[in-house]
Amino acid sequence: MRQELHRHLARFGQEHLLAGWDQLSPPEQACFAAELRALDLPLLQQLYLERTAEVLTDPVPPDPPELLPLPESVDDWQQFEDDRELGEQRLRGGRVAIVLVAGGQGSRLGHEGPKGTYPIGPITGRSLFHLHAEKVLALSRRHEQALPLAVMTSPENDAATRAFFEEKRWFGLEPGQVTFFTQGMLPALDAATGRILLAAPGQLALSPNGHGGVLLALRDAGLLDAWQQRGIEDVFYFQVDNPLVKIADPVFLGAHARTGSDVAVKVVRKVDPEERIGLVVRRRDGRHGVLEYSELPADWAQARASDGGLRLWAGSTAIHVFSLRFLQRLAQQRTVLPYHRALKAVTHLADPAPKCANAIKFEMFIFDTLPLAERVLVMETPRAEEFEPLKNAAGPYSPESVRAALVAEFARWIEHGGGQVRRDADGRPSVPLEISPLYALDAADLRG
Ligand code: UTP
Repeated sequence: MRQELHRHLARFGQEHLLAGWDQLSPPEQACFAAELRALDLPLLQQLYLERTAEVLTDPVPPDPPELLPLPESVDDWQQFEDDRELGEQRLRGGRVAIVLVAGGQGSRLGHEGPKGTYPIGPITGRSLFHLHAEKVLALSRRHEQALPLAVMTSPENDAATRAFFEEKRWFGLEPGQVTFFTQGMLPALDAATGRILLAAPGQLALSPNGHGGVLLALRDAGLLDAWQQRGIEDVFYFQVDNPLVKIADPVFLGAHARTGSDVAVKVVRKVDPEERIGLVVRRRDGRHGVLEYSELPADWAQARASDGGLRLWAGSTAIHVFSLRFLQRLAQQRTVLPYHRALKAVTHLADPAPKCANAIKFEMFIFDTLPLAERVLVMETPRAEEFEPLKNAAGPYSPESVRAALVAEFARWIEHGGGQVRRDADGRPSVPLEISPLYALDAADLRG
């Protein structure tokens, strides 16, 4: 077996992976051999050799996208209410499934365990998973429809995620309403040589293949087909780290249905050119796309429009609605989304304490679905109401900033409902506030 594997790996310069082979037990050898045979070595070689991201080769900046702005006029508000009504019909009619992606490593936050278990509720310490699940429960009750919730995990955090939901009795959801499915993993490569890294003898240094891995994972778990059979038409997608997200927002669902879009994305207004947020743009080929902040040239980031605001300001929230038809079409292709490369410090057998970025990781990004879509709906949402993801241990997008954003939002709801909130001299609520999604899902709900 060793010889045959050696031949196979040597064709791609990866035979070093057999170092330590003799220290493995026969079952470990069999397991590792299966893993090595399953590796897509031509793909990894190709990814290592391809260096330039498409967007950087284009010297002309893209255009801002056309978008559905926040409602201002009476007509806008009428459209908004019509969209809400349409979205509610789709929820009531069982046309909507919800996908929560939670397979990331959460390395910047540094929390022990899956990021979704992080206690974020300003008073109760409810976890991110708890808040999301209660929103799904509240929506299911309101629309008398047990909305299917599919949670994407990775092989690294799958067991811990399932155990957390089970221990919390699925937060009141019906156990059959929640499905877990696991995304793929890819090995990290040595940045200098392109060699696949070993975490230990017989163990590859693997990491999840990015949130874009959700397409293949949904397909391979059979969820796309199962949903199609039960009459689902729209898939609401969101990421675990943003507790402000309006899950399955009927206005968003309705606008998506009305415009017949393949994919809809909510955007927030970027005001600081330095902010690290991906930008939804209209490319020169007329298609939509997202420019990652790491790929954004400084002069494009700084460019101003005639009103003095940033020319490219449509910051992606990674909140989407997909038509199931579009997902099915994408999932039929062999290579669904392109891979992005990131230089990262990876602990591995030959470098147990890396001092600098020593490895290349490859990830697919969900927003690369945009250029593949015929019709894209871009809809603006107020940042304060809907976007403050938990990314970092301190500073922007940290537990402190996320709790402050939640408290500020709950204070607005209370004031909208005619209540009073005591505020400090700087205008911030002087006490922590928290409203359970089971009590109210938004300001109008609380007012009611
Ligand atoms: P991020 O790209 O912010 O990554 O993911 P992360 O894992 O949360 O944090 P870092 O970069 O390691 O610090 C945004 C969302 O996409 C999910 C995450 O769980 C989060 O909900 N994600 C990311 C996946 O589901 N799979 C992945 O492979 C990557």
